[in-house]
Amino acid sequence: MEIVSSPDRMRALTREFRAQGERIGFVPTMGALHEGHLSLINRARRVATRVVVSIFVNPAQFGPQEDYKSYPRNPERDAERARLAGAHVLYSPTFRDVYPPGYRTYVAVERFGTTLEGASRPGHFRGVATVVAKLLGRVAPHVVFLGQKDAQQAVLLKKMIEDLEMDVEIEICPTVREEDGLAMSSRNVYLDADERRAAPVVYRALRRAETAVTREGERQAERVLDLLREVLALEQSVSLDYAAVVDARTLEPLPRLRGEVLVAIAVCIGSTRLIDNVILKVEE
Ligand code: PAJ
Repeated sequence: MEIVSSPDRMRALTREFRAQGERIGFVPTMGALHEGHLSLINRARRVATRVVVSIFVNPAQFGPQEDYKSYPRNPERDAERARLAGAHVLYSPTFRDVYPPGYRTYVAVERFGTTLEGASRPGHFRGVATVVAKLLGRVAPHVVFLGQKDAQQAVLLKKMIEDLEMDVEIEICPTVREEDGLAMSSRNVYLDADERRAAPVVYRALRRAETAVTREGERQAERVLDLLREVLALEQSVSLDYAAVVDARTLEPLPRLRGEVLVAIAVCIGSTRLIDNVILKVEE
């Protein structure tokens, strides 16, 4: 595995791979690699012949009161994990390389970027879309791999790629969970022992919603959300930021469930903010 920080070197490698007829798979991350990230690398290994993983903690997607400074960073362990998972290139540009003095261009995906997470975290998706557009320009992969864990991010980036006519395929990979159901996240390390014990209630609440829809035939979004809130209320340390039932493709609210439905949830446990979701396929 080659570790690259120079954008010029990254471009040279991409040109070399393309000239050799390799298929480039790309996994963008902010590091603190866990099994969720590694599942994307594994999937990329199966679909592509060259796998590029990027690590860049992107300041543009953090709000002023958010955890940019304290976000977990462990470059040596990340490099070892990426190498063991079979990445060929680990690209970690510096802040100055990504946002040089005088940087002016940002990407906003309208509507998709301002609902749900975007409403709670103004400017977040502008930062995400911008950095991913830049990374896609630099790495020029054939296919990019993203996690279902960040469902809105995946839908929004799909829209960006479509709207900007970018020549890259996108594959969304399933959420990897701890045994008790907690979705793996770099932010789980912030949870103390009591909070960690309470955290799986998030997935239990989503499962309750899923059961109501798939087994009990519930189709009213408000009713599904009530059930979900009932389960969450069982853990006092968990406070709900939002829970929503939306169309999985457009992110528009669905008062009555139909088609592919995204049930998305954001909670705070102590000072840690966690998100999770399930996608339901609703017949009729
Ligand atoms: P990060 O949170 O590091 O996540 C990198 C990728 O891993 C994303 O596509 C995310 O959805 C996926 N991922 C995280 N946890 C996962 C899990 N439990 N199961 C499956 N996939 C999981 O998302 C970002 O970084 C950034 O916003 C980024 C896209 C890199 C832009 O800065």
